[in-house]
Amino acid sequence: MSPNEQQFEAWNGGESVHYVDHSDRYDRQLAPFAEALFERAEPGVHHAVLDVGCGCGATTIAAAHRARRAVGVDISRPLLEVADQRARAGSLENAEFVVADAQTFAFDEGAFDVVISQFGLMFFDDPRSAFANLRRALVPGGRLAFVCWRGLEDNEWVSIVGEVVARHGDLPSLGGLAGGPGMFALKDPDETGALLAGAGFTGIEVEAISPNIVLGGGGSLDASSEFLLGMGIVRGLLGRVDPPERAEAIEAVHAALAERYEPGIGVGLGAGGWLVCASG
Ligand SMILES: C[S@@+](CC[C@H](N)C(=O)[O-])C[C@H]1O[C@@H](n2cnc3c(N)ncnc32)[C@H](O)[C@@H]1O
Repeated sequence: MSPNEQQFEAWNGGESVHYVDHSDRYDRQLAPFAEALFERAEPGVHHAVLDVGCGCGATTIAAAHRARRAVGVDISRPLLEVADQRARAGSLENAEFVVADAQTFAFDEGAFDVVISQFGLMFFDDPRSAFANLRRALVPGGRLAFVCWRGLEDNEWVSIVGEVVARHGDLPSLGGLAGGPGMFALKDPDETGALLAGAGFTGIEVEAISPNIVLGGGGSLDASSEFLLGMGIVRGLLGRVDPPERAEAIEAVHAALAERYEPGIGVGLGAGGWLVCASG
């Protein structure tokens, strides 16, 4: 199996569809994280920025507005097509997108002043060599800044579903999804610190951030519920419930969202991430 083959299949197949169809909603939902990320990454007008796992490109485009050059790298062709269209629609000539595996791609050494990522660094099957590869892409002393998820229990948009699924029996523990590539792969800050140090980064700082997010960026209760039920991780969790009990589980998720729904705003949920900063 070649590196990250399963992730390549997922992000070019099933996992990509919901992102492509709802790219603006994801961006609105994640806006508090993007804001925190840019406050620490501080891309300047003379900087070249690499955005890893850039998806539909919102953060690459935000970087291009601030910096000399912004390059988004991602293994997902469908997501990068959206990113490319968005950059062209905004007539941005300093944003470019590369379909490549950031773990193995031969970036020009020292080509970037800043490497950023919004939830794009948790999917490597060899994280240590991936982070070493990103460090090589940075100028010596350049800045790495990224956000990743804390645990499932810190993120209501998954824990609500996890709790419902657990009632139906097949979820051993709410933390049980961690380990290996996946959205909670960097949930342990000590492990992340050691990983970065092993890849040669210095001055590593890991800060917990806990913004409230608006599910799917807002909308009616039904639209918010439909958005959540379409997310890859949620489909995966609900797939553990026996089909005869699934409608009941979905109804329970909907009821939990209704408790958090505010007309005119949407469903507000607690979210927890790590904001990680280091020097290359
Ligand atoms: C959770 S999405 C985040 C997308 C985007 N940064 C955002 O905030 O909406 C994770 C992204 O990482 C990308 N990804 C996963 N493994 C990758 C790899 N080895 N190299 C580059 N991108 C990767 C996926 O294709 C996906 O677009």
